[in-house]
Amino acid sequence: MRGIAHYFMLAAVISVVLGMIWGLQMAISGDHTMLPAHAHLNLVGWVTLALFAIYYHLVPAAGEGLLARVHLVVAIVGVIVMVPGIAVAHSGGPEIAAAVGSLITFASMLIFLATVVLQGRQS
Ligand code: HEM
Ligand code: HEM
Repeated sequence: MRGIAHYFMLAAVISVVLGMIWGLQMAISGDHTMLPAHAHLNLVGWVTLALFAIYYHLVPAAGEGLLARVHLVVAIVGVIVMVPGIAVAHSGGPEIAAAVGSLITFASMLIFLATVVLQGRQS
């Protein structure tokens, strides 16, 4: 796995390593308050980023342009803003980071939709 696919997979694996440590911490402590943040670090971080990695690996032409690099940055920033944002919101703090992070994550998925449509037309 090379190029953009490699970076998506690297970000995905870092997410799941952190997500599993968080899960273990929750399980050992018995405090599951952070369940939604843990869940979304694993699901938006590990599962979604790994699916992007597999797509870019299977469709190398999709990973060559500027759009794929923008997608990588937007997807990673989305996880970095959204997950701590959910943690803060579930600790009783402001919801703004969770909201902004969610919108960035949604923007990343719209970029992916555009990529899939464009690649479908070209193939
Ligand atoms: C070492 C690995 C992991 C540990 C120890 C762990 C631990 C936990 C714990 C303690 C909870 C709270 C359960 C509850 O209160 O009902 C939880 C919830 C959850 N975890 Fe993990 N987790 C791990 C890995 C993962 C992975 C890899 C994923 C996704 C790919 C994941 C997805 C979820 C989800 C979606 C929930 C919420 C479930 C619900 O809504 O009932 N976890 N996890
Ligand atoms: C912009 C993206 C997303 C937003 C704004 C979002 C929002 C939410 C919200 C508000 C909840 C309820 C949390 C609660 O009851 O405290 C939730 C739960 C859940 N979401 Fe998401 N979600 C997003 C992406 C995803 C994705 C991509 C997946 C799976 C691949 C996913 C899987 C789940 C699961 C399994 C639950 C139940 C576990 C939990 O309560 O955290 N979500 N989501």
